[in-house]
Amino acid sequence: MTDTDEQLPNVGRRAFMWGAAIAAAAPIVTEANLAWGLQHGRLGADVPPDAVLINANENPLGPSKAALQAITDIAPLGGRYDKLDLMDKFSQKFASQHGLKPENIAIYAGSSEPLHYTVLAFTSPSRGLVTADPSYESPLAAAQFKGAPIHKVRLTPDAAHDVKAMVAADPNAGVIYICNPNNPTGTITPREDILWALANKPAGSILLVDEAYIHLSDEQDVLDQVVAGKDLIVLRTFSKVYGMAGIRCGMAIARPDLLEKLQPYLQNMMPVTALAAAVASLDDPDLVPTRKKWIADTRRETIAWLQQAGYKPIGVSHSNCFMIDTGRDGHGVIDALRSRKVYIGRIWPVWPNAVRVTVGTPDEMAKFRVAFKEVMDAPAMAGSPTPAQHASASLSGMGGTRFLS
Ligand SMILES: Cc1ncc(COP(=O)(O)O)c(C=O)c1O
Repeated sequence: MTDTDEQLPNVGRRAFMWGAAIAAAAPIVTEANLAWGLQHGRLGADVPPDAVLINANENPLGPSKAALQAITDIAPLGGRYDKLDLMDKFSQKFASQHGLKPENIAIYAGSSEPLHYTVLAFTSPSRGLVTADPSYESPLAAAQFKGAPIHKVRLTPDAAHDVKAMVAADPNAGVIYICNPNNPTGTITPREDILWALANKPAGSILLVDEAYIHLSDEQDVLDQVVAGKDLIVLRTFSKVYGMAGIRCGMAIARPDLLEKLQPYLQNMMPVTALAAAVASLDDPDLVPTRKKWIADTRRETIAWLQQAGYKPIGVSHSNCFMIDTGRDGHGVIDALRSRKVYIGRIWPVWPNAVRVTVGTPDEMAKFRVAFKEVMDAPAMAGSPTPAQHASASLSGMGGTRFLS
């Protein structure tokens, strides 16, 4: 099913207006803005110090030891611009690790910038954005700014991207956005489906494949398609498995002629601290497998508990987040958890009863389990759907998406 007139959720719209108030430039709506509902430009204001923060898909481990050491070592040189040519060193290292050329890589302070710039560069009032629903909302802000039509395509029953419906959604698409694993569901879209979309997309469109969470899954990435010269831009970030959301490093990976199209939106110098930490992270062969296992173990333990207790996780997550169908208004669940100092993620309008939860530390997830049970044991607030209403909403509103229980 395709919706063309859906707008940003309230939170995103608030962030959008905040950006618009600052300048008549395109706002960059990040996960942090969306998770916190951007209040007065401040993230997480007035949060109790002992709060459990599993609302923004962050990594509680933070930067690795080697990355922290690299930051400490480079900081004294911070009075100068990138004197050590770290941007080049970073590109060369990443390129050689992935069979790419350095000119395939454009480095930014996080992947939010190239995500927005890609949508700005390749959509227009006559060339739309096609995205899954639910999926990461950031591209919507850029498409709205551009006045581009937005086509939202429901996930399949397995919560994968419905690539056939996405390709068919707009014969004049500018950008088809595929987030793999998907935020918010953590679910996988098989590589062969992405390759099918690449082979069958409308002429002149590009695939924007967001691999922010790819390290947490067993999926093969699609960087080889860049090497093969295909029409796609791949996004990577150091905000997730590498724990550097606040340090800021990400990139767009594509053919040089596609990257050139992002240049009118500018590209700032990178902070040397971010580059040094990113290079140190890439040099550490144990970092990704160790953290991937740590997150997967905690995720499996939490999901197993949810299933045993009769709750309904949606789909199979391969990431640091998952969704739960609460069977009642998701906003009420979020508020009730927040009053217990447990901050979980937002809802997506297409699934108003489902909430996103980020995988935190085992201790944080233990606190989440206690609070979640308390909230779910309490009667749903007035106006919440009855179980029967909920069951029919699940079938219609959730497009028949499968539950795990
Ligand atoms: C799917 C997805 N893409 C991109 C980003 C952007 O992250 P950053 O700008 O921190 O690299 C996020 C952040 O959570 C995300 O979830």
